[in-house]
Amino acid sequence: MGNDDLSVLIEAATNARQCALARYSNFCVGAALEADTSEVFTGCNVESAAYEQTICAERVAIWKALSEGARRFRRLAVVVDTERLTPPCGACRQVIWEFCGDIPVTLANLRGDTETLQMADLLPRPFDSGFLEETGAEQK
Ligand code: THU
Repeated sequence: MGNDDLSVLIEAATNARQCALARYSNFCVGAALEADTSEVFTGCNVESAAYEQTICAERVAIWKALSEGARRFRRLAVVVDTERLTPPCGACRQVIWEFCGDIPVTLANLRGDTETLQMADLLPRPFDSGFLEETGAEQK
């Protein structure tokens, strides 16, 4: 992308939202994750008839990015058509923290409202692999 303009990232998330498969909740979410290479990976939520298998837009974007070799990330945008801007769920906060670290997360809706929050504020006192290392539980 090579573009510092946040609106371009929000637009990518807005477009990704169009692909949401949300037939059970009708709650369509789009996400766009910018890598340090400026490449952008998008995701939408995908709902399963076995509800538990549903996956959020944020994690789809992260799994796509990681599976294509991206490892460092600059920022994430999440778009939902809610009046109150929708923040990532708890599971996504954990995954964003683990794989993206303390990045800014921009929340946006379809009426042009936006707010940017740091991951450290969204997930205070996070669990991470450092705790596994402390007990020697982590396999080297
Ligand atoms: N959802 C997301 O995609 N991201 C979030 O951060 C919140 C929730 C999805 C999961 C499910 O498909 C629908 O929204 C309702 O929870």
